[in-house]
Amino acid sequence: MHFQLSEEHQMMQNMLKEFAENECGPSAAQRDEDESFDMGIWHKMTELGICGIPWPEKYGGAGADYLSYVIAVEELSRVDASIGVTLSAHTSLAGWPVYKFGTEEQKQKYLRAMATGKSMGAYCLTEPGSGSDAAGMKTTAALEGDEWVLSGSKIFITNGGYADIFIVFAQTNPELLHKGIAAFIVEKSFPGFSVGKKEKKLGIRSSSTTEVIFDGCRVPKENLLGKVGEGFKIAMMTLDGGRNGIAAQALGIAQGALDHATAYAKQRVQFGKPISKLQAIQFKLADMATKIEAARLLTYQAAWREDQGVSYGLQSAMSKLFASDIAMEVTVEAVQVFGGYGYTREYPVERFMRDAKITQIYEGTNEIQRLVISGYLLKD
Ligand code: CAA
Repeated sequence: MHFQLSEEHQMMQNMLKEFAENECGPSAAQRDEDESFDMGIWHKMTELGICGIPWPEKYGGAGADYLSYVIAVEELSRVDASIGVTLSAHTSLAGWPVYKFGTEEQKQKYLRAMATGKSMGAYCLTEPGSGSDAAGMKTTAALEGDEWVLSGSKIFITNGGYADIFIVFAQTNPELLHKGIAAFIVEKSFPGFSVGKKEKKLGIRSSSTTEVIFDGCRVPKENLLGKVGEGFKIAMMTLDGGRNGIAAQALGIAQGALDHATAYAKQRVQFGKPISKLQAIQFKLADMATKIEAARLLTYQAAWREDQGVSYGLQSAMSKLFASDIAMEVTVEAVQVFGGYGYTREYPVERFMRDAKITQIYEGTNEIQRLVISGYLLKD
């Protein structure tokens, strides 16, 4: 067992660190203030070749592994968590189910478009009446001739305003409960599809979160993903990996907050010396760093397991639970290190604190992660 990142992983880390600091950092506060997403940054991510990190080159991907992907999300989130989640939702929620369940034609058409960054992806599960109880969805799909007709709406869709390809879950037969759910690949140009209300949020304000509406949306039969009745399993299996992307986002947020707090503590003088000389601050920084390192080990381990082809659902739920909780703790402490200045928008730590909160909520609340984890522990 060894814990050293390979040369390739270190290269990915360095490339993303430089990209995040130079291309995302300077405008992050302004984009947060304006609640605006910048497609220019997406185009640069496309040029960098990071929109399909774990997908094979034959589908337009980088042919790298899941560990490389989580390192990328971590490094982006260290500077701007909105960019981190944009890549995470695009890769592990929209790309993954097409890679795992798509036909060769679907992969060549849709995975390739997403992997090259030509199209952005989104994942549509949550509805106004079904969040944690994902199987309780009301959006319906009915087969009419050669087309599926989708009716209903989905909310809190990450990348909703900019995505071209939507992975949508809908009920084909309510009597069958979760066994009636099917998954579809929907293009934004399909008749009856529209983007609804844009959410105004506490954090990750420069990522796009919208409602999407299916008003008798017509989807060609060949855009069914997997089989009818497999949709719920596809949704859950997708989240198994997606949750580790959120762990990586939370990890990046926490590391970014610690970096700022450490630098500030060294230059802020009180009582005639830098506050970094005070044990009260030293202990805070030590606790923050220790929790971050533990979260990193869990997150990298879950990605490594996926790369090894062994089960990772349990480890992913654990990494998401732990990393998001410590991101919240660490960012609150970072604001504390900054004192009154930390509470202002002059410094980035208040943004990190606001951004951290969602990681405890989306891709399954942390209460749901505990259900998933205890389910593994207690199963016969
Ligand atoms: N892999 C494969 N199959 C799975 C599975 C998994 N991880 N989890 C459940 N299943 C299967 C079960 O084996 C079962 O199959 P059978 O019927 O064949 O036995 C079936 O699915 C139903 O399982 P449950 O009875 O456990 O389902 P449930 O209705 O009780 O729900 C739940 C389980 C864990 C609570 C699930 O609903 C859940 O994860 N809820 C949270 C939803 C969520 O995470 N939403 C996030 C939205 S996306 C998002 O947030 C993105 C973003 O913005 C960035």
